[in-house]
Amino acid sequence: MKISVLSLFPEYFDPLLNTSIIKRAKEKNLFEFEVIDFRMFTKEKHGHVDDTPYGGGAGMVLMCQPLLDALASIKTENSTVILLTPQGKTFNQKIAMDLSLKEHLIFICGHYEGFDERIREYVDIQMSLGDFVLTGGESACMVMCDCILRLLPGVIKQDSSQDDSFSNGLLEYPQYTRPEIYDGKKVPDVLLSGHHANIKKWRHQKSLENTFYHRPDLLETLDLSKEDKIYLDRLKKNCDLKD
Ligand SMILES: C[S@@+](CC[C@H](N)C(=O)[O-])C[C@H]1O[C@@H](n2cnc3c(N)ncnc32)[C@H](O)[C@@H]1O
Repeated sequence: MKISVLSLFPEYFDPLLNTSIIKRAKEKNLFEFEVIDFRMFTKEKHGHVDDTPYGGGAGMVLMCQPLLDALASIKTENSTVILLTPQGKTFNQKIAMDLSLKEHLIFICGHYEGFDERIREYVDIQMSLGDFVLTGGESACMVMCDCILRLLPGVIKQDSSQDDSFSNGLLEYPQYTRPEIYDGKKVPDVLLSGHHANIKKWRHQKSLENTFYHRPDLLETLDLSKEDKIYLDRLKKNCDLKD
């Protein structure tokens, strides 16, 4: 996979590429990453890439020419072009999994007041990090790249991401490590039993439980087994009894 980012502030990406798991994956050439400063493509005399909005109003708007010339210089038929905008579809784990299978992702980071509306016509996907407004697309892009890159083969152990929250539609089960007792709080016996089938069952039930208590909305779209439905009915009855 190759990721190209169009940004006016390439230095934003240094921490992502030079830290921890992503750094090691980059050193092993598990992906290619480039940041292109689209200011280099401007045909304006003083290197301008933005101008005041037609119709008046505050802030500066990124012009079409520098951005779209930069895009044209790197785009191929295998590229997926993603525009970062609070008006886009909200990013999630399912979208990250789909994007991790693509050959070449191009992210366009807006800045200032945003970009000329006509730029939207040149992209494949408009993507938002959430219902809030950032100063620029760079921080959103970093979050999305981090999430996509860790799904690439070899970046982390595969079974480590398989049980992650959202991967199978549920939140993850609780995790524990040494010591067995901390401040009087004991690790559940089943995890110390060495009985793999029981551990698997317990983890699945705790995943259902976590999702039921913290993100019940996720359960609405899931195709649940008969056993899962019975287990959830029991949780619901327990809640009703407490009310
Ligand atoms: C200050 S924002 C512009 C917001 C724009 N005026 C609006 O209300 O839609 C500048 C840039 O930051 C990026 N950005 C801001 N919030 C974002 C979000 N929630 N998700 C993705 N990108 C975002 C976009 O690239 C945007 O063009």
